[in-house]
Order: sequence, then structure tokens, then C-alpha cells
Amino acid sequence: MNSESGKIWDENSSWWFENVANGNFHEYLEIIVPLSKELFVQKKLILDLGTGSGILAKRIMGNLATKVVGLDLSLMQLQKAAENNLGPSYLQSNSAELPFKSGVFDGVLASMVLEHVGNLQNTVEEISRVLQPSGLFVAVINHPVFQTPGSGPVSAHNSDSDEIGWKVGNYLIESSEVEEISDGIYIPYEHRTISTYLNTFLEHGFQLQRVLEPAIVDKNKVTGNNQGGRTIPRLLVAILEKPLFA
Ligand SMILES: C[S@@+](CC[C@H](N)C(=O)[O-])C[C@H]1O[C@@H](n2cnc3c(N)ncnc32)[C@H](O)[C@@H]1O
Repeated sequence: MNSESGKIWDENSSWWFENVANGNFHEYLEIIVPLSKELFVQKKLILDLGTGSGILAKRIMGNLATKVVGLDLSLMQLQKAAENNLGPSYLQSNSAELPFKSGVFDGVLASMVLEHVGNLQNTVEEISRVLQPSGLFVAVINHPVFQTPGSGPVSAHNSDSDEIGWKVGNYLIESSEVEEISDGIYIPYEHRTISTYLNTFLEHGFQLQRVLEPAIVDKNKVTGNNQGGRTIPRLLVAILEKPLFA
């Protein structure tokens, strides 16, 4: 079982592993790994949805009481996970139709995944179904405003200043695109507004606990596409809970 999107991720899995998921990507080091460890510390069974090469699944396993299932559409991504991030269980499936009984997980992490998923409604419905009441859902999304297709750094008028300008694309126009994120690397990207994401979570019964727009604080790590990372967020994080009583 594989879809067009899964095939694209199959083709790009080596690039993803070498350039992003090798552990040195500063969004992981500074933001996603520490935050996930803190938020999921007391959880017993976590689903890492769209696990990719399993870097977060493995790092969340640092807490030995925690079992993690890494699920992904792409077999090649899962092969990288099995080779490089042993520990979690890995499984191929589509997030829109999860192969689990209801209420089995007490935590779900979706890191940089929802913006690549075509069917957001079904995916969020499935996340809600497989979570126990009072289960935690953490969605880490490329920031829908500043990562709108066509966005990026623009050079400052005054070259003596370290101020970064940022162009924002057509934020209000939702779109499905195949974006060139690096030379010759094309990835499916679903641009949705913040309100679409948050309202979809709320419509499926989630309670919003907190929203974060973390900054990169290490000045030396702010380069390339992350220019502006100290003042312009690269990621949007929604921390949600499935209520105890529906
Ligand atoms: C940008 S990567 C993120 C990987 C990982 N969560 C991380 O933060 O390093 C997105 C992953 O989501 C997977 N993916 C995309 N659509 C999916 C779907 N409908 N169901 C399951 N996985 C999907 C892709 O195969 C890819 O591995």
C-alpha cells in the first residue's frame, strides 16, 4: 500500500535523512526534541505519526517507561528508521486510516507532518479516535504564516543592520503544492491557515492547552531558510488534550 505522496517521500528519503533528520537540524535540537521529552515524559504509549526516519520516536524513547510506535506512509523512510533509530516499533500506514483500536495511545506527536497530509479531517479524526480520554496530542507544524509558499527572507535595506525582513506569500489562499524545498527535491505541501488547523482540532473535540511559536536562540544556528529564526518563528506548536468526557 502506497500513495503518490508516499512514493515522493520514498524517493526523497535519503535526502531527508542526510540533510534534516540526521540529528543536527537545530529545530530538533533546540525545540522539538526537548519539548517532546518534557510533554510526553509521563506517557506510556505514544504514536509518532509520520515518523519519517524515526529520529523523534527514538529520542522520546529516552524515557524507558515510554513505548513509541512510529507510523509512516513511506516504506523507504521506515527503512531508514529501522536502520538508524532502533527501539520504537515501526509500521507503514496512512494517517487518515490508522490500524489501531480506539483509545490505545496516551500521546500522539505529529511533527512536521500535517502540512504534508492531504486529508486533514480524517487524520485528526483518527488521532482523536486512537487517543485515550485525557490523552495528549502535540502538533508541530511549519509555521503556516511564515512558511506560506512564496515566503522567505529578504535582504535588509541597511546592510549594517542584522535585522531580517521576511516576505509572506498568499497566506489566505489555501493550496496543495509540490514545493521545491532544495535543488531538485520536491515535496507535497498543503498550505492551510492557522484558523483551519485550530478549528479542525476543536471540531474533533480537542481542547487547546497552549500554542507556542518558539524561537531559535542560538545565533550561530540561524542560517539559510532559518534566517530570522530569533525573531520570526519557523514552527507553530499546538498542545491539545482529548477531554476526559466527550
Ligand atoms: C517532513 S517529514 C517529518 C518526519 C518526522 N515527523 C520528523 O519530524 O522528523 C513528513 C513525514 O510524513 C510522512 N507522511 C506524509 N503523509 C502521510 C500520511 N498521510 N500518513 C502517514 N505518513 C505521512 C512522510 O512520508 C514523511 O516521512
